[in-house]
Amino acid sequence: MELYTTHFLCNQAHRTAPTRQFFYTQTNWKTAPISLDLGCGTGVITSELTFSHAQAIGLDINPDLLTQAVMDNRPNNSVHLVLADATSLPFRSSIVSFVLSHFTLMWIHNRETALAELKRILRPGSLLAAIEPDYTGRIEIPKNAEYTSHSPIIDYLIFRGADPFIGGKLPFELQNFDFTEVQFGTLSWEYHPEAAQTEIQDEATLLQAKGIHWKQPVFTYTPIFWVIAFKREIRSE
Ligand SMILES: C[S@@+](CC[C@H](N)C(=O)[O-])C[C@H]1O[C@@H](n2cnc3c(N)ncnc32)[C@H](O)[C@@H]1O
Repeated sequence: MELYTTHFLCNQAHRTAPTRQFFYTQTNWKTAPISLDLGCGTGVITSELTFSHAQAIGLDINPDLLTQAVMDNRPNNSVHLVLADATSLPFRSSIVSFVLSHFTLMWIHNRETALAELKRILRPGSLLAAIEPDYTGRIEIPKNAEYTSHSPIIDYLIFRGADPFIGGKLPFELQNFDFTEVQFGTLSWEYHPEAAQTEIQDEATLLQAKGIHWKQPVFTYTPIFWVIAFKREIRSE
């Protein structure tokens, strides 16, 4: 099973929808607004970024996922899909009014370069918003007897090239990049037994494919961070 099934991404996007609504209230849409869905995957969220007459760019490095995004967003002329790497964005500087990273920055190997690129393309005063996990606080009940110190999911994510601990680090990284008004917190969401079971099943299938035996817990919880930060306005002396 591939890591990102359509089903998995839809489920994830559904659960974070209220937090994205919060992001949009923080966005200062200026003339000719353009928004960027960084690492848009199958494009499950991209069309949402066309509200307020914005043109939405969905950008992803994976051609298979992007092909699906193209098919799913076909009737929408305000959605533009681009095959590119977040560490080398094919855009002019200061053209984007809003950037969303929804479980994307965690997968980007050279995050420093990607953050520098995002800062370059954002208009001064514009918003970068991210939703990213932090497996430091992962809870599994009951714990597997052979994995008492930490979940094998963490090793799996690292093996696949992800940073499972990005959530708590990102706000400070953005501060170091001179983003301003950095705010962050963790998502709270209602417990949906069906969605939770599906996530556990998906994780078990991933681990099984790598030969890792993980007895499915009845309950898991992974803290998910939301982070917002603004590109500093240019000061007129
Ligand atoms: C977990 S998926 C999230 C997809 C989408 N944001 C969503 O929530 O449905 C992470 C995405 O980041 C993309 N990605 C990883 N590294 C990337 C890079 N360097 N540049 C652009 N996209 C990247 C992957 O191809 C994948 O689609």
